[in-house]
Amino acid sequence: MATLKIWDGFIRCFHWFLVVSIAVLYFSIEEGMIELHFIAGFFTLALIATRLIWGIIGSKTAKLSALIHSPRAVFNSFKSSKNTIGHSAPGSYMVLVFFALIITQLVTGLMSSDGILTDGPLVEYVSSDTVDFANWLHHLNFDILLYAIGLHVLAIIFYRIKGKPLVKAMITGSKNLKEDEPHTIVTKSPWLAWGIFFILLFILMMTWGKEPINYLFS
Ligand code: HEM
Ligand code: HEM
Repeated sequence: MATLKIWDGFIRCFHWFLVVSIAVLYFSIEEGMIELHFIAGFFTLALIATRLIWGIIGSKTAKLSALIHSPRAVFNSFKSSKNTIGHSAPGSYMVLVFFALIITQLVTGLMSSDGILTDGPLVEYVSSDTVDFANWLHHLNFDILLYAIGLHVLAIIFYRIKGKPLVKAMITGSKNLKEDEPHTIVTKSPWLAWGIFFILLFILMMTWGKEPINYLFS
């Protein structure tokens, strides 16, 4: 048995940062802390934008093109006991669904308003009907996102029962492979991704983030 690094440092941090930021986005709204909600929203936006760029220029297992599988591949994957290097076919569909739901949540958030004092930064550029629609979809899409997260966790437990410790790989980056399985290097150094992430985060915080940051720390 040998180990192979399958998830680079950016993908792993992206995942766990995403979990924390979605929790912060939920609790900030529950606690009426809209400024914190905005800051966590811009953080998530920088995170997702970097993930999509990394999906073009990043590690083999981060590639967006590696997420495209035929429905037959999904069916075959349930019958096979072979290790996959990267997301399995059903896992890839799940990742695409998450990207679509999170992007929808971010875009609608940017056009949402709390109806009292705080407007998303794109509200001034769209009609009031669009703002109403964005508010409605921001609410509905979050419920769908919660169901997707529930299904995601159930799937991870299902794979664990089948003997595939996926969480360990998402923490350490490494996976045990059988001797006869290919061991080619599939990860890149994550520093370029971190550079892109911090530049995007800095731009977002210095523009749209300035007002909520000032409010939160004043
Ligand atoms: C993945 C990212 C996000 C998540 C998970 C999220 C989640 C939520 C949730 C659960 C609500 C409460 C909806 C309800 O009224 O039932 C909400 C409201 C809201 N969010 Fe977000 N949000 C995200 C991103 C953003 C962004 C980027 C912005 C703007 C910069 C934003 C602005 C707002 C506003 C203005 C409200 C309305 C609050 C109100 O109706 O009083 N959100 N969000
Ligand atoms: C807010 C909640 C969560 C969201 C939005 C989320 C989203 C995602 C996304 C987008 C990916 C793909 C990563 C990538 O390629 O960039 C992923 C993978 C993964 N997630 Fe989550 N996740 C959440 C919670 C969890 C939790 C609580 C666990 C642990 C029980 C978990 C375990 C995993 C594992 C093990 C993978 C890799 C799956 C594989 O090997 O194909 N996730 N998740």
